Order: sequence, then structure tokens, then C-alpha cells
Amino acid sequence: MSSTDREQWATRIGFILAAVGSAVGLGNIWRFPFQVGQEGGAAFLVVYLAFIILIGLPAILVEFVIGRRSERNPIDAFERLGYRAWTIAGLLGVLGGFIIMSFYSVVAGWVTRYTLASATGAYFAEPAEYFMDIAAGTDALLFHLLFMGLTAIIVGLGIQRGIEMAVKLLVPALVALMVLLIVYGFTLDGAVQGYAYYLSPEPGAIAANWTSILPAAAGQAFFTLSLGMGIMITYASYIDDERSLVGDGAWIVGLDTAIAIMAGLMIFPVLFTIGVEPGAGGAGELFIGVGGAIAGLPGSRIIGVLFFGTVLVAALSSAISLTEVTVSFLIDRFGLDRPVATGIVAGGIFLLGIPTALDLMVLELYDQVTAELFLPLTVFLLVLFVGWFYDEALDEVSKGVSADWLPGAWLWHVRTIILVVIGITLILSIQGLIETLPETIEAIELL
Ligand code: PHE
Repeated sequence: MSSTDREQWATRIGFILAAVGSAVGLGNIWRFPFQVGQEGGAAFLVVYLAFIILIGLPAILVEFVIGRRSERNPIDAFERLGYRAWTIAGLLGVLGGFIIMSFYSVVAGWVTRYTLASATGAYFAEPAEYFMDIAAGTDALLFHLLFMGLTAIIVGLGIQRGIEMAVKLLVPALVALMVLLIVYGFTLDGAVQGYAYYLSPEPGAIAANWTSILPAAAGQAFFTLSLGMGIMITYASYIDDERSLVGDGAWIVGLDTAIAIMAGLMIFPVLFTIGVEPGAGGAGELFIGVGGAIAGLPGSRIIGVLFFGTVLVAALSSAISLTEVTVSFLIDRFGLDRPVATGIVAGGIFLLGIPTALDLMVLELYDQVTAELFLPLTVFLLVLFVGWFYDEALDEVSKGVSADWLPGAWLWHVRTIILVVIGITLILSIQGLIETLPETIEAIELL
């Protein structure tokens, strides 16, 4: 197809919203507070925010450059640009995304269940115990199947557009519900402690723990921005040439970060009020924290259904974006029918996710290995490619940008600082994984 034939986003806001729909998901609402809790609170928040601004935003531009210039999916993009050997980076990203999707669907299954359980108030009395009961086992497996099936139906019928429309309504609705829960949290007894934990770093905490905080913050930044999984390459392949990638990137990163910060404001006051130590809830932090808050509100059932229902749609819009990357690749490359390609991809994701639905430790293992190893490794390769090998990056990023100094500064930043920081992060991640892996494997009950 020549570039003029290719479909493009009809409006600027259409692209931004679709990319926000992909970026905003369980990463912000579920994974972010869970990482804050595991890494000790405010110290993590500081490192995370620095990472988002200094590394995340410029790195999203790296993917945009590859996508818009090649007008291809992440696997075919490099060949199209004339650098076939780098296809390995695209493949690694797609593989990482595929594994992420397998446990993401299990977590989204919990959200589905909580949407229903809110209607009956099932978790209101004992939020922490309820979570532990339903997180792993046959029920979790069933809801994993349900969520993946729903994703497959939407992708198989090719009706993403409908979901994109829904996202336009639901992102504002989600923000409104979060504001409500934040205001409620503010009135609780544990609010002061919650805010102190989340927002005020203890002196020396970063220096003392940076070897575990940095890889966790990097993994969270990539996960939440949908980086290193080929999604932003694919989305950018449909952006027209006049637009400033820098401006769009800043919007997406800004909105995504704002929603994550709000999730923390919503959850920590509640955890301190109901006496659950942050970090102790692990992957259950969101469910225990928000579950506890909702239980205390008037109209709790309605609020619960609305809250978990909107989170479900946010998860669905992210899941669709990730599934679509692989499905469209199978269609383009092997000429499969859409329903067949979707069946293969969704079936594979479901099977791969089974162990994570049966054991929480397996889920946390998949999560850590993908976020802290696959994603940074893929982003590292993409940054290396765009910084040092691909000649036309500067030209691509300069389009539509009026500040003359900006593209050049970006390129040098990509070539030096980003490469070094992600390189250090990777070394720390690998060290961390080697240290914790034996313990984690030990704790897996399935084995
Ligand atoms: N950025 C997404 C989120 O925060 C990450 C993601 C996208 C995960 C697509 C899975 C699928 O939820």
C-alpha cells in the first residue's frame, strides 16, 4: 500500500484518545498502587515521576518515529525502514506484550468479578479476606476465560471503533468516580497517614533502596505507557505527517500519569483506615483498598458497580489494543481471516494465563519478569536503533515542531542519557531477578 492509501486517524483528538485508551488501564489503577506499596511509598513515587518525564516521554517518541515512518506493525516496521536485523526488537516486544496480556486478563477477570460482587455487596464485610478467596483458583480461571472471550469477540468482529467511542465517555466517568472516592478518602481517619506515606518521602529512602526502586519504577513507567510492546509503534503508524509527535506524546503521558497519581490518592487513605499495611496486600491492593472505601459509602452497591465497571472498560480498551497488534500481524503476514487469527491469539493468551489464575505467586512472577526484563530490554533496543543506527529519526521528529532546538536535544538525550539509564536499570533488574527468583519459585504452590 502506498502511504496515501493507508488509513489515518481522522482527528488529532481521535489518535490521542485511542492512545490514552490503550495507556490508561490496569497499569494505572491496579499496578501502580501495588508497586508504590511494594517499594515503600513516596520514595517510589518520586523516582517514578522522574522516570516518566526524563525517560518515558522521550521514549514514547522513539516508538512514534518508528511507527509513523514505517507505517507498519512492529514486526514488519524494521524491514520497511531497511534495517531487517532489528526485527528482533519488534518480535521481543510482541512476545512481551503477549505474556503481559495473559496475566492482565486474569486481573481484568478479578475486576469483572468485583463489578458483579459490588451489586450484592459480597466483599463489603471483609475486603482483604474476600480478595484472597477469589484471587486464585477455578473462579479466577473462569473470569479469565470470560474476559479473554469478551476481548476476542470485539477484536474478532473488528468493532474496536465502538469501544473507542465508549472510551471517550468512560475516561471522564472514571475520573469523576475517582474524584469522588478521593474526596471520601480525605474524610477518613487514616487520611493523614495515607498521604504522608504516599507523598512525603523519608529522607534517605531513595538512596537506601534505589537498586530495587529504579527497576520497579522503570518497569511501571513502560507498562503504564504501553511501551516496549509494539502498541505505540502500531498506533503511530496511522498518524499523518503534519502532526507534532512531541505534542501528542506529552498529552498522552500527562493524562496517563494524572490518572495513576489519582489512584494512589484514592487508595492509601483507605488502607491506613482499615488497617492494611501497604505492600501487604500485594496484587490485591486496589481491590482491598477501594473495596474497603466503597463499603463505607452510602449507595455503596451502585458506586461499586460503576467504579469496577468503568475500570473494566479501561482494561478492555487496553486489552484490545494489545491483542490487535498480534492479530493484525497474522492477518497481514499469513493472510488469515480475522476470526481465525483472533481465535489463535486469544486461545494462546488464555492458555498461557492459566497458571497465573491458579497461583498468585505465578502471576506476580509473570508480572515482574515482563515489566522489569522484557519491556526495558525492548525499549533499550528501540532506543539504540533510533539513537545510533536510524538516520532519519531527526527529520521525522522535527515535523510540525516549532522549537528548533528541541529535536536535536531529544536525539542527544536518546543517544546518551536514556541509553545509559535504561542500561543500568536492566543490570539492576537482572540482578534483582536472580536474587528473588529462587524465593519466588519456592513459594509457588502449583509446583
Ligand atoms: N498501558 C496499559 C495499562 O496501563 C498496559 C497494557 C496495555 C497492558 C495493553 C496490557 C495490554 O493498562
